[in-house]
Amino acid sequence: MAKQHKFTVTAARGMLPLLADELKQLGIKNTKQDQGNIRFTGTLADAYMVCLWSRVAIRVLLPIAHLHAETPEQLYEGVNALPWEEHIHELDSTIAVDFNSFRSKIKHSQYGAQRVKDAIVDRFRTLFGLRPSVDLYQPDVRINVYLKHNQATVSIDLSGDSLHKRGYRVSNTTAPLKEHLAAAILLSAEWQKLARQGWALIDPMCGSGTFLIEAAMIAADIAPGILRDYYGFTAWKQHDKDSWKQLKADAERRRQSGLARCPVIVGGDADARAIEAAKNNIAEAGLHDRIQVNQRDLTEWPKLAADLPKAGLFVCNPPYGERIGRADELHYLYESLGNIINESFSGWRTALITDNAQLGKFTGLTLFDSVPFDNGPIACDVLFYRAPRPVRFNELSSTPTQFVDEEFDDKEHAPVEMTEQGAMFANRLKKNKKHLAKWARKSDISCYRVYDADLPDYALAIDLYDEHIHVQEYAPPNKSILRKR
Ligand SMILES: C[S@@+](CC[C@H](N)C(=O)[O-])C[C@H]1O[C@@H](n2cnc3c(N)ncnc32)[C@H](O)[C@@H]1O
Repeated sequence: MAKQHKFTVTAARGMLPLLADELKQLGIKNTKQDQGNIRFTGTLADAYMVCLWSRVAIRVLLPIAHLHAETPEQLYEGVNALPWEEHIHELDSTIAVDFNSFRSKIKHSQYGAQRVKDAIVDRFRTLFGLRPSVDLYQPDVRINVYLKHNQATVSIDLSGDSLHKRGYRVSNTTAPLKEHLAAAILLSAEWQKLARQGWALIDPMCGSGTFLIEAAMIAADIAPGILRDYYGFTAWKQHDKDSWKQLKADAERRRQSGLARCPVIVGGDADARAIEAAKNNIAEAGLHDRIQVNQRDLTEWPKLAADLPKAGLFVCNPPYGERIGRADELHYLYESLGNIINESFSGWRTALITDNAQLGKFTGLTLFDSVPFDNGPIACDVLFYRAPRPVRFNELSSTPTQFVDEEFDDKEHAPVEMTEQGAMFANRLKKNKKHLAKWARKSDISCYRVYDADLPDYALAIDLYDEHIHVQEYAPPNKSILRKR
């Protein structure tokens, strides 16, 4: 019987239930859901299968050790004592280290990664007189260290790189959806089942084509990882080549027969550059004869409705207020969307992803369900509609100006350009505040901690005292430690 290992599969906020379903469909048992991940016991082939077939997973990790690491020295000693020669080939290997810390004494992730890398390299130097080199992008072996309450879990990252990178994205547009997010929205909309029943799919603002490609891959039973030429296990010393070869061959067979079952999938976008990007990506995915895309404005879709099936899924990622366009200009777009769906696609289901769920009201459609998902650093909601109801914009009690985000109108506090990490930090603050404010109001509390080093790179404590904010920075690692790097 093949050797059993314990694996950890990570996924983004809101996607764990979908991941649990996927693992079940893949025949993986013995799963245990934790915060931000699902653990399971299985064979290497099971882990490879998750890398190849999961549409929502981000990483598949194989934990190899648990260490107590309160100081950089303990971290170094613990990692240096591990048998890395069982994982990394002695000659010409490359490595990279990802390090994340949560509520631990070693807080600085780059510093932690550096000490882990040094510990591995020094072990190789002592044993073989040779050292692996560092390749941050596509290393032969990527090592993941997660330090929580000073306990480090050291893992081999079998995915090697985030699994959302399918390998078909050769061209980009402004604000593309991440592939795993597009897949998660489609799976939440039951697209797998609908496609089997022959339902069609439209994305009228397809941008670089992410929804269209993910939809075709789901409908045609194409493994999301089939195009990837890089994983974290192919150059790992314990790689099971035969299992991988077999899984890939099986996925190729399924792709061949699945393509014949692909339903009608059509996209459009007002921007010619977006259509060019979508065509390039679709061609790279080998789906040019399964997906049609053309440059057209949203308002042109009613003319096409007569030639399309009577039932389908209308998916859409309209421009966001924060990234393209202004929130206060978007209500007209949502109103048009609602009118078009109402009048020309009344038998269809709809899924819209938005960073401002209020805008959904302008569609005039009856909300069936909404699910929170993050699009990178932007907290979003996916709005699902089932039975359109003929409600007109002027019937709504709210006027458009009520939906204007005050921040956008206020010149003094106009949004500043932020890095992705900065935006993540801002979003985390907003979310914590929203969540805690409710509890504080109910409990009649006016002073509370809204943030406590939740993100490792922002090691701050932020307390609210009525109208006042008190910010304290945690001490950085001490200088003598930093000099040893
Ligand atoms: C957020 S982007 C979509 C990104 C896409 N989901 C992807 O993964 O690349 C929004 C798209 O809507 C398109 N758009 C905006 N207004 C439109 C309109 N009236 N008709 C058609 N497309 C429109 C933009 O050109 C842009 O490509």
